[in-house]
Amino acid sequence: MNEKPPMELLLLADPSRELVQEYIRRGTCFVAEKKGQIIGVYVLLPTRPQTVELVNIAVMPSHQGKGIGKKLLKHTIQTAKSMGYKTMEVGTGNSSIGQLAFYQKCGFRMIGIDFDFFTRHYSEAIFENGIQCRDMIRLSRDL
Ligand code: COA
Repeated sequence: MNEKPPMELLLLADPSRELVQEYIRRGTCFVAEKKGQIIGVYVLLPTRPQTVELVNIAVMPSHQGKGIGKKLLKHTIQTAKSMGYKTMEVGTGNSSIGQLAFYQKCGFRMIGIDFDFFTRHYSEAIFENGIQCRDMIRLSRDL
């Protein structure tokens, strides 16, 4: 797809414009549209021969909480399967309580912690739910 990626939507899931630009250059960006408007986005990035990482997924705030994220995640799985991948991984912050719920409800299990990922890679401190985002929780699911 050669359309311009919806940067504002992508930045909802990841505050680093630099990192977003870097992975959309290397990965594939998919969008969900409703009545001609982009309401959702996700980005897949191959990491190992049979593994793909879901590096970004976001739903427009006015459309969140209505099951669109779950549908989009099902679509990521179908897409990754059709591309021949066997495993999908995703990472989210230790402070991203809602996202941890979301991914686990979509079949992901925690497989590890990348300690200090956010303090190493992001120049500004990130706080969510009153918790500093320091570590990346890694999750995975079979396809
Ligand atoms: N807290 C607790 N549970 C949550 C949740 C939250 N913040 N967000 C979603 N869930 C749960 C829902 O309750 C629902 O559970 P159910 O299947 O038992 O009903 C399930 O996850 C699916 O919810 P859905 O309505 O499909 O999610 P959504 O359309 O709001 O999309 C996100 C979820 C995370 C993609 C969306 O909130 C978003 O774009 N957030 C901003 C960007 C972001 O943080 N991306 C992830 C970066 S790691």
